[in-house]
Amino acid sequence: MLFCMLTLSDVAKSFGGRTLFSEVSLQVNREDRLGLVGPNGAGKSTLFNLILQNESPDEGSIAFQRGITLGYLPQESEPAGDETVLELATAISPEFRRVRKIVKAWDAAHPTSGEGAEFEDDAHARFTELGGHQIDSRAKKILAGLSFREKDFDRPAREMSGGWVMRTHLARLLTQEPDLLMLDEPTNHLDLEALLWFQEYLKGYPGAILMISHDREFLNQLVGGIVEIRRGHIYRWTGNYDSFLVQREAHEHQQLAAHKNAQRKIDQLQEFADRFGAKASKASQAQSKRKQIERIREDMADAPEAAEKTVHFRFPQPARSGQRAIELEHVRFGYGVNLVYEDLNIEIERGQRTVLVGPNGAGKSTLLKLLAGVLQPQVGTRELGHNVRAGYFSQYRAEVLDLTRTVLEEALDTPQRITEQSIRSVLGSFLFRGDDVFKKISVLSGGEKSRLALVKLLLDPPNLLLMDEPTTHLDMPSIDALLGALQQFEGTLIFISHDVYFIRTLAKHVLHVNAGRLTPYHGDYQYYLDKTKSENARAALTAGGTSTSKPVRTLSGAERKEQKRLEAEQRQLRSRDRKDRQQLVHQLEKEIQELETRIAQLTVELEKPDTYQTPGRPTQLNRELANAQTDLGRQTSKWEAAAARLAELETPESAKAT
Ligand SMILES: Nc1ncnc2c1ncn2[C@@H]1O[C@H](COP(=O)(O)OP(=O)(O)OP(=O)(O)O)[C@@H](O)[C@H]1O
Ligand SMILES: [Mg+2]
Repeated sequence: MLFCMLTLSDVAKSFGGRTLFSEVSLQVNREDRLGLVGPNGAGKSTLFNLILQNESPDEGSIAFQRGITLGYLPQESEPAGDETVLELATAISPEFRRVRKIVKAWDAAHPTSGEGAEFEDDAHARFTELGGHQIDSRAKKILAGLSFREKDFDRPAREMSGGWVMRTHLARLLTQEPDLLMLDEPTNHLDLEALLWFQEYLKGYPGAILMISHDREFLNQLVGGIVEIRRGHIYRWTGNYDSFLVQREAHEHQQLAAHKNAQRKIDQLQEFADRFGAKASKASQAQSKRKQIERIREDMADAPEAAEKTVHFRFPQPARSGQRAIELEHVRFGYGVNLVYEDLNIEIERGQRTVLVGPNGAGKSTLLKLLAGVLQPQVGTRELGHNVRAGYFSQYRAEVLDLTRTVLEEALDTPQRITEQSIRSVLGSFLFRGDDVFKKISVLSGGEKSRLALVKLLLDPPNLLLMDEPTTHLDMPSIDALLGALQQFEGTLIFISHDVYFIRTLAKHVLHVNAGRLTPYHGDYQYYLDKTKSENARAALTAGGTSTSKPVRTLSGAERKEQKRLEAEQRQLRSRDRKDRQQLVHQLEKEIQELETRIAQLTVELEKPDTYQTPGRPTQLNRELANAQTDLGRQTSKWEAAAARLAELETPESAKAT
C-alpha cells in the first residue's frame, strides 16, 4: 500500500499582486519520483519553499505524514562553514556532527591506537551506535562518485569553489538518505561524468524524489511522473519527460478543438440573440441564449497558448580582432602538488567557435580560465592577438549583479551607446516581458538572473568570449534565445557545456582535453563523435602489449617464491577486473551500433516523400531521431570512459612507473 507523504491542497501564492499559481493540489507518495518542470520564473523554487515552510501560502494547506524526513538541495548553493569536505558530507544530523567531531579529535590525538584500542567513552560508543563507521565509508563512496578526489576529503569545504560546495551538500543529502529528497536543479553544477554517476545512484534511491530540472535527458532517465507549472496552474502527468511532451501535445490539440467548438456554439447563439433581441416577442428567448453563452464561457477551456515567440534582435558586434585571437605557449599549471598542465600549447583563430570536451578533472575549466586570464600560467606565456578583449562568463556570473537594482536599471548600465528602446527589446528577446523589467534583481528566479547576466554580456560583448556552462539555470526558450544571439556573434567563442543540443548547434571545432593533453578536431560535434570512435578503437587495440620490466637485482629463492605468488594473485585480480571492463565495453559497443542503425533507419524514413503524407509522422520521427542522437552521444561518452579504463588495465606496469 502506498503512503501519502506530502499533500498540498488548494495552495495559492502570489507576489506583489501577481499570482504565481492557485488551486495547486498535489500528493507525493512513498515511491514517487516526480519531476517539477515549467519555464523560468513559473514558481518552481517558490513551490519548494512553500513545502519547506520557508514561505507560507496565501491560501490552502500543506501537510506531511508524521515523522518523515526531508532533505533539500537549493538551487543556489548554501555556504559552507569551517568543516572539511568529509565532515560536511557526513553532517547528517546535529548530534552525529558533534559526536563525530569528538571522536575524530580523539583519534587524531592518539594516532597509534588502532581499532582494537582499549578505549571506551560515550562519544565512541555513540558514534558506533549511530553507524558512524558505515556513514563515513558511505559518504566517501558518494563523494568519489561526485568526482571528489580522496585528498580533497580533508580540505576545508569553503576553500572549494561554489560548484564543489554544492556537490558536498549533495553528498550530505545522499548520505543522510531522507524519506523525501527535494532537489532544485541538481545537475547544474555537475559535469557529465558526475552526472551519470548521480543518475545511476538516484535510480537505486530508496526514498521518494521530487526534483526540479530543465535537463530533459536526466528527467527521462529518472522520473515516473511530471508535475508541470504552467500559467498559474499545476498539471500532473504520468511517465517521463518525453511521454509528458507527447501527452501535452495531444492534450493541447484536444483543448484547442474543444475551444473552437465552444466558440462556434457561442457564435451561433450570439447570432440568434442579436437577430431576435430587438423583437419583443422573442426577447425572452434571446435572453435565454445569452445566459447559455455565459454558461459556455464559464466552462470553456482556455485557448492553448501559442508558443512564445522570441523577438529577433540584432546584437551589437564587438570590434574585429587580429587573425590570431589567443595563444598559450609552453604553459605549466597546477594546483598545489597536482599538476594539470605540463607543457600546454594552443592557438585559436579569430571567429572560431570551439567546444572543450573531455572527462571531468581533465582540466577543461582550468584551460578556460587560463585562456581568460583568470588564472595565470606558472611557466610559459599567454598572448592575446591584436586588438583582442577577452571576457569570461561562468555559471556564477549572475553573482555580480547588483541586487538592489531593477532589471532595466542593470541592463541600462552598459558602456555601449544603445537606446532604452533597444535594450528593452533585448530584454524581451531574453523573455523579460512587460512589467518584468521593473522587478528587483533580489527577487529574480535562478534562470531570470542568468538571463539578465547574459543580456548584459551580449550588450557589450568582448571579441574573445569564454563561457563555462552558460546554459545553467536556463529553460528551453531561453537556451534558444542564447543560441540565436551566439550564432550571430562574430567574435571568437570557446565554451564548455554538457548540453548536447547546444553544442551541436554552436560548435564548429572540438577540443578534447584529457590528462593535460589537447586533441583538436576540426569539425563539429558529429565529426568529433565519428572521429573518436575509430581513434579509440585503435588505441584500445594497441594498448594491450605485455612487456614486463626486468628486475633491478636478482631475488633470493624465498623472495622469488613470494614474488611469484603475489604476481599470480595480481594476475587473477586483473583478469577478473579486465573481464568486467571488457564486458562493459562490448555491451556499450553493441548499444552504440544499435543506435547507429536506428539513426540510419530514421534518416531513411525521414527522406521518404511518403512520410510527409501522414500528419504528425515527421515530428514523431524527428523527435525519435533527436532522442537517438542524444542517447548515442551519451553512450559514446560512457564507452569512451570504459575503453579508457580498460586500456589503463592493459598498460604494462613498466610504462606506468615512468
Ligand atoms: N519575494 C518576491 N517578490 C516578488 N517576486 C518574487 C519574489 N520571489 C520570487 N518572485 C518572482 O516569482 C517568480 C517565480 O520565482 P521562482 O524562483 O519560484 O521561479 P522558478 O520556477 O524556480 O524559476 P527558475 O527556473 O528560473 O529557477 C519569478 O518571476 C520571481 O521573480
Ligand atoms: Mg528556481
